[in-house]
Amino acid sequence: MLKGKRILLGIAGGIAAYKAAMLARLLVRAGADVRVAMTEAATRLVTPVTFQALSNQPVWSDLWDQRVPDAMGHIELSRDRELIVVAPASADFMAKVAHGLADDLLSTLCVARRCPLMLAPAMNVEMWENAATQRNLGVLRDDGVLIEGPVAGDQACGETGYGRMLEPAQIAAGIEAFFAPKRLAGKRVLVTAGPTEEPIDPVRVLTNASSGKMGYAVARAAQEAGAEVTLVSGPVSLATPAGVARIDVRTAQEMFEAVKKRAPSSDVFISVAAVADYKAKNPSTQKIKKANGRPVTLELEENPDILAYVAGMKNGPFCVGFAAESEKLDQHAKEKRATKNLPLLAANLVQDALGADTNSIVLYDDRGEHPLGTGAKLELARKLVEHVAGMLPQKK
Ligand code: PMT
Repeated sequence: MLKGKRILLGIAGGIAAYKAAMLARLLVRAGADVRVAMTEAATRLVTPVTFQALSNQPVWSDLWDQRVPDAMGHIELSRDRELIVVAPASADFMAKVAHGLADDLLSTLCVARRCPLMLAPAMNVEMWENAATQRNLGVLRDDGVLIEGPVAGDQACGETGYGRMLEPAQIAAGIEAFFAPKRLAGKRVLVTAGPTEEPIDPVRVLTNASSGKMGYAVARAAQEAGAEVTLVSGPVSLATPAGVARIDVRTAQEMFEAVKKRAPSSDVFISVAAVADYKAKNPSTQKIKKANGRPVTLELEENPDILAYVAGMKNGPFCVGFAAESEKLDQHAKEKRATKNLPLLAANLVQDALGADTNSIVLYDDRGEHPLGTGAKLELARKLVEHVAGMLPQKK
């Protein structure tokens, strides 16, 4: 996939710079033409000689480098590139790119670029969660910059939380996905994600622990594969993947309405949302008072089954269901696929999947079962999308 691809690998000043050496190695081994540019801070963490040896090319870090014939390093070094990847991208570097600052070679290359830019953030958890960093992240996403990670975990500073750079192999997978053939080009994909909230009274709801991560990963993977993606999302606190149209809903009924409206014009429907099966029959308009020790009964009624409705549509989209099970995955998944009449079903265990960054998925279709293995949700989503693309009728 990466053979001959012209990539500029930028390295900003973060301790994760040492992992960039492995990334450079993976990209070169996959056949990519890798040119490396480092910030001055990065050169203090890992020597440029390491990257020179790994990339077989000179390494660049000085805006005034006299090796560039016309002294226009910021133009020369990026014009023939198909992608710039900055890994690690520090909080400072993200801030610079978000605001168009260009005070060293790498930031100038990014501002002067014609090709897409991908950043793999890496920083301390507090720096990641800082309001300014989150604001800059939003600006970068709106500007179409591709963001890979970060993930939560142990950090070099001894703290734990979000801000850890993705592993080099995961960044390389993101780069491969960028260059992969657009197998869903021209297709409209409708995805649901997250939980729904069913009101009991003005302050209480029936809901579940879905974070939306799996559904958002599926939406992103479909967009990467070239599809026009609409994401109908329950209440979650996740950023919309770049290039995806998002519709926010709260209840299962609202999700149903949003899906019903868009399903007829969709080619594929992927139902990842953890839709509440039941809602309160008569939600109270006023806050329900404590019953002084007496038992309280809540009468429930069934919500519409959104996936079953779409799967039953005449000339409807190709339907992919998810099955979230706590036991007997194989048995329940097969039953669910048959009951809902689905060409494809992705089964996972709630204890692996709910709220986590990783998951384990098995696909079920007419040909049998296809384990996708265990991995980051985005990795699995890419495999799922690949499988879906292979099942769609090919244009003559
Ligand atoms: O959001 P995360 O924290 O990342 O967690 C991911 C996940 C566990 C929510 C996800 O991977 C998953 O399994 N989603 C399906 C959850 C679910 O509701 O499963 P189910 O077995 O109850 O439903 C089967 C299918 O019918 C699902 O595709 C569901 O979207 C759909 N459904 C269910 C009920 C309903 N009323 N309408 C529906 O469309």
